[in-house]
Amino acid sequence: MNKAARGSLLGIEHLDAKEILRLLTLARRMNPLKPRPLLRGKRVLLLFYEPSTRTRASFEIAAKSLGAMTTLVLSSGSSIEKGESLLDTGYTLRAVGADVMVIRHPHAGAPLLMATHLDIPVVNAGDGMHEHPTQALLDAYTILRHKKTLKGLQMAIVGDIYHSRVARSTIHLLSKFGARITLCGPPEFLPEVATTLAPGLHITRTVEEAVRGSDAIMVLRVQKERLAGTKLRLQEYISRYQMTMARLKLARRDAIVMHPGPIIRGLEITWEVADCPQSVIVEEVHNGVPVRMAILANALGKAS
Ligand code: NCD
Repeated sequence: MNKAARGSLLGIEHLDAKEILRLLTLARRMNPLKPRPLLRGKRVLLLFYEPSTRTRASFEIAAKSLGAMTTLVLSSGSSIEKGESLLDTGYTLRAVGADVMVIRHPHAGAPLLMATHLDIPVVNAGDGMHEHPTQALLDAYTILRHKKTLKGLQMAIVGDIYHSRVARSTIHLLSKFGARITLCGPPEFLPEVATTLAPGLHITRTVEEAVRGSDAIMVLRVQKERLAGTKLRLQEYISRYQMTMARLKLARRDAIVMHPGPIIRGLEITWEVADCPQSVIVEEVHNGVPVRMAILANALGKAS
C-alpha cells in the first residue's frame, strides 16, 4: 500500500506527544478574527458522508479564515447516491483541483484509503467507530485553557464509549500525556479491550465513583437505538448515568464538563449541567476553529 500523503491527519494513535504539542501550539497562534491568507488560492474539499454541524462548519470557517476556497460535497445529492465508489469519488474531487480533503465517513479506515490513493493530504473528520482526531485535539486545547497540564489530569468519560470515535481519540491523546482516565457506562457501552487499551485507564461501575475527585468530565451522546441494545430502559439509564448537578458536585470544585456534541439534554446530561459555569461545551465548539486552522495549515505545509 502507498503511504498517506504528507500532512495527513488520520488519527491520534500514531502521533507522538511532540507532534500533538506542535499542533496545539500552532492552534494558539491562529485567530479566526484576524484572518491570515496562509492558504490563499488553495482548495479545501469537504466530503461528508454523515451528518455534521460543528465539525463541518468549523472546518469551513477555518479554511476560509486562512484564505482558502472550500467546496462541500455531501453523500446525498452527489454521485455517491448513484453508486460511485469511495475512491472514484476521491479521484474525481482530486481532478477538479482539491489540494486537501477533509472526510467524514461511517466506515473506519475510509480516510486512510483516500490518503493512500490520492496524492493530497487527507484529514479525518470522523470515521466510523475508529477516530475523530480533530475533536480530540480541540478537546486537549480546551482542557489546557483551564488546566496547567494534562499530566496526572483525572478525566471521567461517561456514556457510550464503545461506539464513540471521540472517546477513542481522546483516550489515545490523554494517555500519551499521562492522564488518568476513568470510563463509566453500561457494560454494552464499554470497550472490551479497555484494560489493555492504554495505561492509566480504569473502569468504574458507578458514575459517582468515576466523577469523584475528577478534574474534567466528558459526557457522551447516547443514541436511543443503541440503548435498546442494552438491558437498560431509558429511565434506568438516566437514573444511573445522567450527569446531574448532584453528581457534578462530587468532582473537584474547578472541574470542567465537556461534551463533543450534539448534546441530548435530559438524556445523558441535564439542562442545568449543560448550562452551568463549569460547562465548557460551547467553548469546545469555539476552539474547533483555531485548532482546525492549524490542522489545515499544517496539512498544506504552512505550519512554520
Ligand atoms: C461526534 C461525532 O460525530 O463523532 N460529534 C462531533 O463531531 N463533535 C459525536 C457524536 O455524534 O455523538
